[in-house]
Order: sequence, then C-alpha cells, then structure tokens
Amino acid sequence: MTRKLFVTTALPYANGPFHIGHVMEYIQADTWVRFQRMQGHDVHFVCADDAHGAPIMIAAEKAGMTPQQFVAGIAAGRKPYLDGFHIAFDHWHSTDAPENHALAQDIYRALRKNELIEARTIEQFFDPDKGMFLPDRFIKGECPKCGAKDQYGDNCEVCGAVYAPTDLKQPYSALSGATPVLKTSEHFFFKLSDPRCVEFLEAWTQDGRLQPEVANKVKEWFTRDAAGQVGLGDWDISRDAPYFGIEIPDAPGKYFYVWLDAPVGYLAALQARLQQLGIDLDRYLADPAVEQVHFIGKDIVTFHTLFWPAMLKFSGRKVPDRVFVHGHLTVSGEKMSKSRGTGISPLRYLELGFNAEWLRYYIAAKLNARVEDLDFNPEDFVARVNSDLVGKYINIASRAAGFLTKRFDGRLSADVGVEGRVLLDGLRAHAPTVHDLYETREFGKALREVMLLADRVNEFVDQHKPWELAKQAGMDAALHDTCTVCIEAFRLLTLYLKPVLPKLAADVEAFLRIAPLQWADSARALGHHQIAAYQHLLQRVDAKQLEALFEPPPAAAAPAPALPGGEAVAPEITVDDFFRVDLRIAKIVNAEAVDGSTKLLRLTLDVGEGRHRNVFSGIAANYRPEQLVGKLTVMVANLAPRKMKFGVSEGMVLAASHADEKSTPGVYVLEPFPGAVPGMRVR
Ligand code: 2FM
Ligand code: ZN
Repeated sequence: MTRKLFVTTALPYANGPFHIGHVMEYIQADTWVRFQRMQGHDVHFVCADDAHGAPIMIAAEKAGMTPQQFVAGIAAGRKPYLDGFHIAFDHWHSTDAPENHALAQDIYRALRKNELIEARTIEQFFDPDKGMFLPDRFIKGECPKCGAKDQYGDNCEVCGAVYAPTDLKQPYSALSGATPVLKTSEHFFFKLSDPRCVEFLEAWTQDGRLQPEVANKVKEWFTRDAAGQVGLGDWDISRDAPYFGIEIPDAPGKYFYVWLDAPVGYLAALQARLQQLGIDLDRYLADPAVEQVHFIGKDIVTFHTLFWPAMLKFSGRKVPDRVFVHGHLTVSGEKMSKSRGTGISPLRYLELGFNAEWLRYYIAAKLNARVEDLDFNPEDFVARVNSDLVGKYINIASRAAGFLTKRFDGRLSADVGVEGRVLLDGLRAHAPTVHDLYETREFGKALREVMLLADRVNEFVDQHKPWELAKQAGMDAALHDTCTVCIEAFRLLTLYLKPVLPKLAADVEAFLRIAPLQWADSARALGHHQIAAYQHLLQRVDAKQLEALFEPPPAAAAPAPALPGGEAVAPEITVDDFFRVDLRIAKIVNAEAVDGSTKLLRLTLDVGEGRHRNVFSGIAANYRPEQLVGKLTVMVANLAPRKMKFGVSEGMVLAASHADEKSTPGVYVLEPFPGAVPGMRVR
C-alpha cells in the first residue's frame, strides 16, 4: 500500500546561517524521506524559516533593517546549503507567510471557542527607554546567589544558579542599559492543565508513538502530587507590542509568542506545497492514511510532545503521528553552542571542495533511532569514508568495469554461474533487513549491513582474481562472469546506499545506464545489458585537507624581519586565515575596575547583537574607566569565551603595544574613525 507521509524538520530561527547541527538533522530526515520515496510512497517534505520573536526583531533593529528584510536576507542564503548537501525539501516556507498568520489565528480561535484560553494579568520587567517588555534573556544583573555581575535573567553562568529575572540584583536591560521596572500586562494562557488536555496528552505521549526514552521523560508532566495536581502548567502564549509576530485576534497590541506560531509553520509550509500541486490542505489532512512525522532535536521535545499536539487536538485538527527525536552533534567530543555552532562551518566544508556525500555517509553511519549525541571525529570520518565507502564499495566497480569495457564492449554476460548466483541471491535476500533498518532510522546498522555485504563481494573478487583471469588464455568466459557479478552486486549495493548517497547513486545509474533505482529493483537483475565506460565515482578524503576545516594551515617557518619594538612580523597567513578572526566594532557601554585585580578592567561591550558582552581587558594601568565609557573600539567577536577568576570573558578588545610593554610602556586601545557603528565587521 502506498503510504502518505507529511514530513518536516524543525524550523530554524531566521537569525543566522545553518550550522552543522542543522545539516545533521536535515541529512537524517532527507535520508528517511528518500528511502520512503524509493518504496514508491507519497511524501511531502517541507521546512521553513522560524521568523518571529524578540531576538530576531532586536537583531533586525541593530542591523538597521525591518524584521521582514532581515529574515528575507537569511532565507536568501539557505539554498547553497540545501543544494550542496542534497537536502531535497519539496518546499521551503516562512512562518511570517500569510498562510501561517491565517492558520495560527484559526487555531487560536478554535482553542478559545473550546474555552482553553484564559486572560491573566502578570507582572514583568519593562524597559522604560525602549518602551518594551523584556524577555528573560535581555535582562541582566548580579546573580542573587554568588553576586557575579552581568548574568542573564534566568541562570548564572558562574555558579549555575537558576532563578527568575525578578531575583537579580541591580537588574539592567541588555538592550538599553536602563533599569527595568515591573509593569503589569494582560497575557493569554493556553490552559494545558485543563483535565481534557491532561487526559489527551497522557494518552498521546504514552501510546507507543514516541521513542521510549522520550515518552519516559515527558511522563513526569503527568505525575500527580499529594493534592492530585499534575506538573503540566498553563502556557503563556502572548507577548506585548512591539513584537515581530502574528497578531492575536480581538486583542490589539498582543502577539502570539513565537513558539505558538512556529510549529503552525509546518502546516503553512505544507499548505504552500500542496497549493503548488492543486491540493487543498484540509482535504489532504482529513485523509486518515496521512502520517504526520516531525524530526526534531532533543532540546525542543516539550514543544513538540505537549504544546503542539494539544494545539492541534483542541483546534479539531489531525495530531502528529510520530516525533523522531535525535541527540545533538558534538565535534571531537565538544558540545556546540546553538547560536555559534562549532568549528565546522557547513559552507566552508563545501567551499573547500569536500564531497557532501562523505558527510552524509559519515552522519548516517553514526545515527540510530535513539536520542543519543553524535560525535563528529575527524579521524573516524577519514577512516569510514576511505576504508568503507571507497575501499569496500566503490572499489568493486572500479575493479570490474575496466575489463568489461575493454574486453566485452561493456556487455554483461547473461548467466553468471552458480557461485555468482548464490552471492547475488544472498545480497538480494538482505533487502528486507536493510529496509527495516532504514524504516526504523537505524541508519548506522543499515550501513554496517551493507558493508558486510560489500565484504562478501570483495571476497568473491579475491577468490576469482579477475586480474589473473585476464592474463590467462581461454578464461574469457570466467572473466566475463566474474566482472558481471561485480557489476550486478555493485548495482544492489548502490540501491541499498541510495537514500544516503543520492548523487553518487545517480552517477552510478548513468554509468550502468539504468533508470533511477527503486527499492523493488533489488529483486531484479540487469541481465544482458551494456554499461557505459567507468568514470571515477568517488575520491578518498585527504586527511591533511581535513585539518583546514578546523584550523588554519601550519604557519610558514621563514623568520620575518623585526619591526621597531623588537617584535618580528608573524608568519604569513592567507586571507582565509584572516577571515576566521571576526573583528567587530564594539561600543564600550560600561567600564569598571575589577575588585582584586590591578591589571584588569571589566568592559561591557555592545556589538550589535541585542545583548551585551562582558570582556576583561588588561588595560587598567593605562586607562581609567571613565575615559573609555561611550567610546567605540574593535573587538575579536568570535573568540571562545574564557572563564576567569572574576567571571567569563566573551572576547578581546584590540590594543597596540610593544612586545614587552614593561620596558616600553604604553597600551593604546583602538578606536575607529567616525561613522563606524557597533556590529560592523572590520576587514
Ligand atoms: O529551536 C529552534 O531552532 C526553533 N526555531 C525550532 C522551531 S520548530 C517548529 F516548532 F517550528
Ligand atoms: Zn551565581
């Protein structure tokens, strides 16, 4: 039976380019979707930019753009990544598109009609300078527990304490520096604690549709305390103007909180896709055969297993059938930050000429159906691509194809003998196993299975030694059969790998002169057939080249002449090296002495990000704080944050000095010419 699948990945915030974590999720979902398509199933695979919310609004303002212009700029940069990694979404949409406004408002109206929306007056920090309520992450102050300065409104990075923004001492707005005031406002809540919601969600999360570890984790929301109360609280879904979002019907100046309209974007993207095909959204979703599947990361489970299904259910809509949760990507064991990504930039990977399918293969080889983190390890990457993919699989074709072309005009032999048949039947017999592993997202196991099959083929080649047969008189038929077996085996292995390696599979299809491989083709044989001449299909990874992904090439050794001050010019670098250092214009919004240090000043810098940075600078001997406040300077904005005795330093301010500033005193902080504004890149 043909399945009807509606598949999404999480909608990325439109506040920056994709990082490698996004690419990992897209590769996982894309592989699964391609596998389903090879079964002949009907799939709509869509995604969109998550456009709304305060951080994007603030980032746009800093960039001197409207939020719409800002997110359009981000959206315009998506294509090279998606095409580059062969991610075949049917459609890419935006949560700011008209479909999403209409759908979010419809859903809200239905929830309200169901008496699941309640207005309550709450008290919140308000920035009197900016004239807006402040989200927690834009309020900073002293940690109520350890006294560390410049801590965010929800937790302390120094001592790890968790608190409410109202607990902060000396709170200030990270937007304007102003002292926030408490102000009341009417907010709308989605009454998740309503018994109807609790009953529905408890059943929906525990009926086997979620991964066991996910179901277990969300179970805690339903445990009842002594008073019979569940942990599930009501959800604040409104925000006050100014806010970049969707207006709440009949409530002027109120907008949906970004997380209300973000998942609705799944439906909006689907609607836009279906419209291209002339299909009505409601009719499509009314079909009970449709399966709705979301791929997401483990950090957004609550939104997808509580809020989103409840929104759908109580607005009378279809609820998700599956939510597939994956772990996070680490690089060489290091966690990556959501906003900054990791050392690996997906675009740099492509620009360096790395094959996208190496990464697809590597990621798939390490994925399973559980919520486990996946580590990108460079040595492991090289080993898997070179030994498995190229060494075991590609080599089968390259070993056989030359003889077929040279000696048999590319024609396969019609019959391959008993041993060959046994081998090939054995390969075909694995189709159901590999099928089930893909279906259940055990991609690592599927690829291991395929590599074991490749081992069998290589053993066959080693036993039959076509290179020796080719030299012996009268062994033409044996050579022909052996090479034919190799090519047929290669076709089968390619079929099994096709969900992961779509481009390579297309190249193989051209080489074999066959129609695009479908899963059912695993039961067939090529038979008497003429193939094209073999062209090299896949290079090995050069391990040395891989280093360029992570770090600048080794510095040139030639000594450079010394300049005044006694310091030689550093070894030559490339423009690429230079661009790895992100220099930005920063405004020094505050400067103060550091208790217990005679060297350091604590600087509060604005680099146009909608938050302030805390930087310790060793310039206390040269500047008094009041000489610096209000000035512009240049900072290294992408330096890894450093934990110091006095707090975390998030960057470095540029200053000129002699190599040995003790004997030739003087440190001079850099200041740009007039006209520069915070956030501008220095290049
Ligand atoms: O966590 C995130 O990156 C969100 N932008 C994901 C949204 S997923 C969906 F709900 F839109
Ligand atoms: Zn603290």
